[in-house]
Amino acid sequence: MDTRDNSRPDRAAWDQDEARRIITRCAALKGGLMEALHGIQGAFGYIPAESYDMLADAFNLSGAEVYGVKSFYHDFRDTPAGHHVIKICQAESCQARGSRLLTAHVEKLLGIRLGETTANERITLEPVYCLGNCAVSPNITINDKLYGRMDEDRLEGLLGKLG
Ligand code: FES
Repeated sequence: MDTRDNSRPDRAAWDQDEARRIITRCAALKGGLMEALHGIQGAFGYIPAESYDMLADAFNLSGAEVYGVKSFYHDFRDTPAGHHVIKICQAESCQARGSRLLTAHVEKLLGIRLGETTANERITLEPVYCLGNCAVSPNITINDKLYGRMDEDRLEGLLGKLG
């Protein structure tokens, strides 16, 4: 059994100098805005609103344009994630095999909706749109580890094993 702890490592608190270093490193790259967004989320666990103006300046965009790019991609968060991140595939194949019912079950179990984090910051529940594993739908990830052929009982068992 895989016993690695893939849960979220502790993230740094917002640090303007660190954000500036990340952005400066990416500013000259092709596709640098995406690199910078990934870098900032990697460092802080989400995209702090304080970074929008810095990104806008570096990439010669408006803050609204930066926000638009960030919002287009579901992986970028507005708030820090919980200690564990569970993603449930909402794309066609997984939907056809019960991912909506699975989602509703987990939402009820945790008392949160997709896109939310439990009050104790333990678990974040997020949608994902195809994990490339459609043959064994429905699929989920827990802390980036992929699980296929998921059902309510199995998911409850996995939740019970999370620290
Ligand atoms: S639709 Fe869910 S993995 Fe492809």
